[in-house]
Amino acid sequence: MATTARPSTPSIPSPFPSTHRALHVTSYDTPPAVTSLPLPTPSPGTALVRILATQIISYSRSVYSSTGRAYPFPLPLTAGYSGIGRIAACPGDSVALQRGQLVHVDCVVRARDDPSAIFLAGVHQGHSQRSAQLMEANWRDGCAAEFAAFPIENLMPLDEKRLLGKVEEGGLGYDLPRLSYISTLLVPYGGLADVGVRPGETVVVAPATGGFGGAAVKVALAMGARVVAMGRNERELERMEGVFGRERVRGVRITGDVKGDAEMLKGVWGEPDVFFDISPPAASHSSHFKSALLSLRHAGRASLMGGQREDVQVPLRLVMVKDIMLKGKWMYERPAVAQLVKMVEAGVLGLGEKDGVDVKGTFTLEEWDKAFTVAEETNRPGSVTVITP
Ligand SMILES: NC(=O)c1ccc[n+]([C@@H]2O[C@H](COP(=O)([O-])OP(=O)(O)OC[C@H]3O[C@@H](n4cnc5c(N)ncnc54)[C@H](OP(=O)(O)O)[C@@H]3O)[C@@H](O)[C@H]2O)c1
Repeated sequence: MATTARPSTPSIPSPFPSTHRALHVTSYDTPPAVTSLPLPTPSPGTALVRILATQIISYSRSVYSSTGRAYPFPLPLTAGYSGIGRIAACPGDSVALQRGQLVHVDCVVRARDDPSAIFLAGVHQGHSQRSAQLMEANWRDGCAAEFAAFPIENLMPLDEKRLLGKVEEGGLGYDLPRLSYISTLLVPYGGLADVGVRPGETVVVAPATGGFGGAAVKVALAMGARVVAMGRNERELERMEGVFGRERVRGVRITGDVKGDAEMLKGVWGEPDVFFDISPPAASHSSHFKSALLSLRHAGRASLMGGQREDVQVPLRLVMVKDIMLKGKWMYERPAVAQLVKMVEAGVLGLGEKDGVDVKGTFTLEEWDKAFTVAEETNRPGSVTVITP
């Protein structure tokens, strides 16, 4: 019998409206507001997407506020992060994308003539004059809107039948909020793939109890590793052991005793192969950083994805004598998107409840303030809060 995808998502309006609703940011000193804006138009290299869901980062409020992180970006812009959408209109130079296709919309935009010029649509202008110049000129808007214009290379087709289809019909039975979690998983995948995590290796993830930290635990497991999850919150570490099983995940608490904690890490399954750091700015002085480096095996690797804003002490002599590799990573390379989507479609990286993914709230654009609060208050491994514009 033929299988059908769940008819669960809004269709593309025809004809297109001339305006759409977007969560607009006009200043760091005033809150974002839902505004009616002209519909973006497709142009060579740029497609128009009907946004169906966008995940809210736990620190979203801080990103757009002068009293918080105040990430640099040109104003005005539409807020949001990556998302899930349907192609509404393709430009003439697109040969593979199709109108109506379900896609992952990736906020990581690169200059076509300089891939090192990277910015995050709706979030951050990047770290070079060229990335800032590119965001100023093109694609600055994020996914907290009914429609968005994105470079065609940022749109990854999704197997809708497999992902949204019913389990009894061979599908995975996910919904849009669960699919949105792909954008969180992509971040740690960027760093873990960058240091070449292999099946059977042991990866220390720290801190493991936040949104991106928890996602790192999940992704490292899906890549075939065992994980030592390090953090302050013992209850959360125990919960993760429960979800993923103590055979492959063990929690180790950050006590502040650098050497003692390094011994605890080694005591789980021997000297770890990889340390994945995903610290927030507040953890700049946390002892876990040194403990985890001290615990690594000879020629171990460290992927540094943390957002520390202050310099962090590195035990350089140990790094030298043990041939330790330290590798920074901002976000992920483009091939990572296709690789991770394949892992999800294959079912090795689950997005279900049993896989520890927990949808905390689904909000309309007008409820953005509530969505920001819920995302902040429920920032735990596997938590998902989305806006469905
Ligand atoms: N490189 C990149 O591309 C990239 C991309 C996205 C995010 N990031 C960075 O990743 C960071 C982590 O994100 P997140 O989603 O996990 O959430 P987050 O809210 O930024 O951080 C929460 C995590 O940090 C821990 N933490 C907070 N203060 C700490 C301290 N003083 N000492 C030790 N641990 C502390 C929390 O532990 P408790 O559970 O004990 O509170 C929790 O595990 C972000 O802040 C961002 O800077 C980097």
